[in-house]
Amino acid sequence: MSDWKAICRVDDIPVLGARRVERPQGIAVAIFRNAEDQVFALLDRCPHMGGPLSQGIVFGTSVACPLHNWTIGLSDGCAQAPDVGCTVPFAVKVDAGEVSLSTAELATLALDLSPPRAGPGASSSALRDKTSDVQAPHSP
Ligand code: FES
Repeated sequence: MSDWKAICRVDDIPVLGARRVERPQGIAVAIFRNAEDQVFALLDRCPHMGGPLSQGIVFGTSVACPLHNWTIGLSDGCAQAPDVGCTVPFAVKVDAGEVSLSTAELATLALDLSPPRAGPGASSSALRDKTSDVQAPHSP
């Protein structure tokens, strides 16, 4: 089995937006693209109250949670002070424009965390193992 699972192309992720990657088990992973075409992946669950970070606004190397506007670092998943707490970051590989996530991390990380109470992460398992747009591109 490959160590990396191909997810999509960088161009498939809206600039300053995100896509959700459903997993067979556990909360979905949000993959983000910033204005410099850097790609990051975090568990789609804010460390505050579980908000769907995939629906947040990306700026620089951070995302603003759509629920209470905490600023979460896209590299480490941690809230910017004075807020505290971290969500789970996932390793991302970008090769020739193809975005991949670690197969092992997808299968093992954060399986014990409960899903958000609202937003796309609260939906049924009918869409497992698919990706979806969650945010239309917006002007910087
Ligand atoms: S749930 Fe994200 S800031 Fe409150």
